[in-house]
Amino acid sequence: MLIRLSNGKEIPIEMHKVRIVQKTSLPPIAQRRRAIEAAGFNTFLLRSRDVFLDMLTDSGTNAMSDNQLASMMVSDDAYAGGESFYRLADAVREVFGFEYTMPVHQGRAAEHLLAKAFVKPGDVVPMNYHFTTTRAHIELAGGTVLELFEDEALQTASSNPFKGNISLTKLRDVIARYGVEKIPYIRMEATTNLLGGQPFSLDNLRQVKDVAAGHNIPVVYDGSLIAENAYFVRQREAGYGSKSIAEIILEILSYVDIFYMSGRKCANVRGGLIATNQRALYDALLPWLPVYEGFATYGGMSSKEIEAMAVGLREMTELDGASAAADFVKYFVERLDANGVPVVTPAGGLACHVDARKFLPHLPSLEYPAGALAAAIYLASGVRCMERGTISMDRDRDGHEIPSDLELARLAVPRRVYTMSHIEYTVDRLTWLYKNRHLVQGLKFVSEPPVLRFFFGRLAPLEGWDARLAEAFQAEFGPDL
Ligand code: F0G
Repeated sequence: MLIRLSNGKEIPIEMHKVRIVQKTSLPPIAQRRRAIEAAGFNTFLLRSRDVFLDMLTDSGTNAMSDNQLASMMVSDDAYAGGESFYRLADAVREVFGFEYTMPVHQGRAAEHLLAKAFVKPGDVVPMNYHFTTTRAHIELAGGTVLELFEDEALQTASSNPFKGNISLTKLRDVIARYGVEKIPYIRMEATTNLLGGQPFSLDNLRQVKDVAAGHNIPVVYDGSLIAENAYFVRQREAGYGSKSIAEIILEILSYVDIFYMSGRKCANVRGGLIATNQRALYDALLPWLPVYEGFATYGGMSSKEIEAMAVGLREMTELDGASAAADFVKYFVERLDANGVPVVTPAGGLACHVDARKFLPHLPSLEYPAGALAAAIYLASGVRCMERGTISMDRDRDGHEIPSDLELARLAVPRRVYTMSHIEYTVDRLTWLYKNRHLVQGLKFVSEPPVLRFFFGRLAPLEGWDARLAEAFQAEFGPDL
């Protein structure tokens, strides 16, 4: 929740009490240098004991509620027909308005099943923007992703409230060019993760549905961050300010044929699901569920997580639940912006995104500015963030690099985990790094996996810049920080 102080300043405030804590420690600069070197300058390969604040992702890293933990104690571990599943299906009916539910072990498993069941070689899948795993599954099935965002989506400094919108002109053109038979579905992602967590408007979705329905093309909705998208609709779209998050979610999903989500984000668990009201779509997916995930009533999830998901879905429809990350992200973004650090504006759903192209303008895309910035942020702070740029784009089928539209270092805000002083500390170190940005140079691959290379790729710093950055840090802060 955002609260206004008597001096007029607005701050995010935690609407929960902390009753269990996990110790963390700040490894000093010399240790951080050794750790990032051992990790091949890839923050995914750091050990968490070497990380002070883990802002790699908000996926599976959120604090669960007391009620979620309590629900795990009464789960039903039956292989088939478990009561936990029926409680999840009730929550899906209530929160999302869908009759048929399929649990899966996480979001990408839903993407796998959808691609398996619906995408044929030569197909195209229009969408507002890709996510890494979405694109991988569609391409592995022989399809091509077509991103139909409005041009302004790539302007990182912007006041456009809905940079996640699909361009309807582009959508109509694509349908005319490729023909309905080549388009298994249109995908909308809420909020668009790789554009900086930017939402789309309900008005845009309504129009996408109109176009899709006119051609009998299903709308598939990736709702991994649906609570945040609904929160932004409430804040930013005319006519929604007095609606509840629950009402907005139901309205959003009234335009959707197939819904899927990673439950690891706004539902604060580890798992995922697919849901629909159309029996034929459910029947097309169901046979694949036990092949890749598990029986229809557990889908690869533990029964404990299924119970906690049912609770988490209801909790994310509360205003405090839906805003738990977004309000802190807003504060984080605005503090950095005020200090002159280039960030994606307006603030989005899951993370504060730093524009690495503007931060490190001396680096070309193929020296991986976002990857270099993520490594430099770790060196300067012990904070682990994620590269979301050219390293996160795999090469094309001919082996050529695909420079990313955006080069972002993403500092995720796991829900209810970090506090204001953690954010203030990170803002300070990022501001220091920005003043010393000339010390940061690029990276080159030492070993490069063939798919989703950002996970396991190992890189090396050009011109040994990490040593110079560590020296400058130590000169300012001493050896202990
Ligand atoms: N779709 C979106 C929009 C996502 O953000 C993610 C995951 C997935 C699908 C895949 O879900 O991880 O449960 O398999 N995003 C995580 C992140 C990994 O760090 O942003 P998953």
